[in-house]
Amino acid sequence: MSKIDESNLVVGLDIGTSNIKAVIGEMLDNHFVSIVGVGTYPAKGMDKGGVNDLNLVTQSIQRAVNEMELMADCKASSVLMAITGRHVQCQNETGMVAINNAEVDQEDIDNVIHTARSVPIPAERRMLHVLPQEYTVDVQEGVKNPIGMSGVRMNANIHIITCAEDMAKNYIKCTDRAELVVDTMVFSALAASYSVLTDDERELGVCVVDIGAGTMDLVIYSNGAIRHSAVIPVAGNQITGDIAKIFRTPVNNAEALKVRHACALKDMVSIEDTINVPSVGGRPARTMSRHTLAEVIEPRYQELFELIHEEIKASGLEEQIAAGIVLTGGTVKMEGAVEFAEEIFQMPVRIGTPNNIKGLTDYVNDPSFAVAIGLLQYGRQSIEEQVSQKLPTESIFNRIKSWFKGEF
Ligand SMILES: Nc1ncnc2c1ncn2[C@@H]1O[C@H](COP(=O)(O)OP(=O)(O)OP(=O)(O)O)[C@@H](O)[C@H]1O
Ligand SMILES: [Mg+2]
Repeated sequence: MSKIDESNLVVGLDIGTSNIKAVIGEMLDNHFVSIVGVGTYPAKGMDKGGVNDLNLVTQSIQRAVNEMELMADCKASSVLMAITGRHVQCQNETGMVAINNAEVDQEDIDNVIHTARSVPIPAERRMLHVLPQEYTVDVQEGVKNPIGMSGVRMNANIHIITCAEDMAKNYIKCTDRAELVVDTMVFSALAASYSVLTDDERELGVCVVDIGAGTMDLVIYSNGAIRHSAVIPVAGNQITGDIAKIFRTPVNNAEALKVRHACALKDMVSIEDTINVPSVGGRPARTMSRHTLAEVIEPRYQELFELIHEEIKASGLEEQIAAGIVLTGGTVKMEGAVEFAEEIFQMPVRIGTPNNIKGLTDYVNDPSFAVAIGLLQYGRQSIEEQVSQKLPTESIFNRIKSWFKGEF
């Protein structure tokens, strides 16, 4: 293996409700990231994408990051971190400016974005992302890159994603305690979209939904830009909880039953298949049909998919997502989930696993790694944009060149 260029390393930290994932990757040319270290650890102290217990979350982060560092043989000091939770919200805004020298330059773009984002945001909310959608130069609409265009005035449409300041602070408290600097926070579904989508899908219109353990996070693209983002605070844990209640089995066993034997569509399971269900309170285990388990699971998946469908319909963008839906997150790994989702959404559905990766691909070739790997792609793209605009890369990340405290 060729020597790793440490100045090109990026660390992604996805603090999920059930698992913390830490990944480190080297940014390569041609939009690729080479994965050099991966760490996962069960998340303790998290609920529905929010921090419930600072100490427990800190410890879980440390375990995941340590594992990643051991694999990569280097030490991370700062990270790009994913954030989610029901407090995440979005809004679309517009701004207008006069073009300074009859030709659009970067300063005009910065000005128009600044005008568009200058909407009153309450002090308790943090602006996570300001994402340009398109520009209008005089009467020319739908311009993606107006640099160099002649005109008198310019409009910009932007998509703003905000989160609750206190929720963000709680995440940062945990990383501080784990001795990691957060360089930037990225909405988790936005991160996932960076690792799983193709440019064609973005242009045609697509909805990415990350269905984890505690939340379902989504972003909708059309004409190459983000139009809507949302978080629905229910996901895989709900299914596990229902299995535990209905079959009177401990939550750990319910989780194992779900992951090993469940199916989202009961018609895909034979009535003859049987499984062993452990009981609580020392009672003997029972044998039951796999079909019965699927009968419990199917309405839960239906509920989850219908909640997503309602969110898409409410956004008014259902007609604009011709490329359909891309599902990521652990909960979509269930047998029958894609078939069932296609039935409910009445559009094409596929599972999204991280694209454009090299190196330790076997570890992350999984829809539940879409967010963590997406963070690396987000970092790579942000740096490329800064370089193309000839801005110092330091302006996005505190210390990209000194992220690592040297080898062990
Ligand atoms: N094969 C499987 N079938 C069904 N569900 C699965 C499977 N494997 C994992 N899961 C579920 O996926 C969830 C974990 O996925 P993931 O790691 O994406 O969540 P998370 O990032 O920890 O949570 P969140 O994003 O909601 O904060 C758990 O609820 C787990 O039960
Ligand atoms: Mg997640």
